[in-house]
Amino acid sequence: MSTDNPIWNSMPVPALLVDHDDNILNLNPAAETFLNASTKAMAGQPIWDKVMIDAPLEDAFRRARAHGTPLFVNDADVGTGEGPPVQCNLQIAPVTDSDGEMLFMISSRELAGRLIRSHGVKSSAKSAIGMAEMLAHEIKNPLAGITGAAQLLSMNLSQEDLELTDLIVEESRRIVKLLEQVEQFGNLSLPAQKPVNIHDVLDRARRSALLGFGAHMAIIEDYDPSLPPAAGDTDQLVQVVLNLLKNASEAADKKGVIRIKTYYEHSFRLRRADGGGRLLPLQVEIIDDGPGLPQHIQGDIFDPFVSGRENGTGLGLALVSKIISDHGGMISVDSVPGRTVFKLSLPRAGKDEIAQYEGSH
Ligand SMILES: Nc1ncnc2c1ncn2[C@@H]1O[C@H](COP(=O)(O)OP(=O)(O)OP(=O)(O)O)[C@@H](O)[C@H]1O
Ligand SMILES: [Mg+2]
Repeated sequence: MSTDNPIWNSMPVPALLVDHDDNILNLNPAAETFLNASTKAMAGQPIWDKVMIDAPLEDAFRRARAHGTPLFVNDADVGTGEGPPVQCNLQIAPVTDSDGEMLFMISSRELAGRLIRSHGVKSSAKSAIGMAEMLAHEIKNPLAGITGAAQLLSMNLSQEDLELTDLIVEESRRIVKLLEQVEQFGNLSLPAQKPVNIHDVLDRARRSALLGFGAHMAIIEDYDPSLPPAAGDTDQLVQVVLNLLKNASEAADKKGVIRIKTYYEHSFRLRRADGGGRLLPLQVEIIDDGPGLPQHIQGDIFDPFVSGRENGTGLGLALVSKIISDHGGMISVDSVPGRTVFKLSLPRAGKDEIAQYEGSH
């Protein structure tokens, strides 16, 4: 791509182009600002030396290049060698008709206002959630009145008019459902950090899925039975898995297969610039054989109110992402038609947590 391409130059998202050996070919102006370096200085340098991504992406990256499919990584810490690493979402795509060139787009979560780590953001996020919660509560009461009145009215109506009152009732229910989901966000407290048996979590979610929204699906277990306990909050993790199973079930046409896979990856960690970082060795993959993520929302599915479904509110994955990030974990997604993989990486319960828990029981 030539540097005088106006689209490349005006893109507000930092973007980099690398060659088949992962050496930097080009930076757009936003990337020059983000990395505080010019294309001239960066050209030919290995990207992994200049953009330190604290997520073990090697395998997924290689697959993306080999299969020509895009790769999305959520909430990875990206270091540029100067200053503290920044939490970012990465969108990586193979360049069509090229010799293994890959395009990187790096959008900072801080800009999107989702970084709930620093104090200022935390309190403003809290007050936004508090506001939404209050509104949700206030709207639910009159809405119940409206629904009730419509139902009363409907008793003496002709068939034609009945359709209108039914519409009122139905739409009001939909709003109530949305409000309940908003309230759920506000109700989330910080997760307990207790030892959690991941397989219990998965079984609970699996059973309730099969009884309800996932009755048309086959859910296959592919568990590593020796998996040690995770550090976390059972109820919140059940919610995460339920949301993922629900999405997979809704994406499937009539029937489909979901595979839940667990395994241990002992060196998987979120590295920080100082060389430290928390180990996230417990891996859970929810794999479905549905149509895959709709292309137009692929990069934004973890943001609130982004939905590819007619009646979706788009809060499911936002909640998942919040819970996993509160757990200090990571979520990523890899999707092509016929195979969509949501991967959760979680910390292991430490000796201290296990001892503390056993002491209190
Ligand atoms: N396994 C999947 N396969 C295909 N598309 C998916 C999958 N999971 C999520 N998506 C897409 O991502 C979108 C966002 O999902 P999310 O759970 O955040 O919202 P939603 O399911 O639309 O609404 P809600 O969960 O609030 O009812 C979905 O609408 C769907 O288009
Ligand atoms: Mg959903």
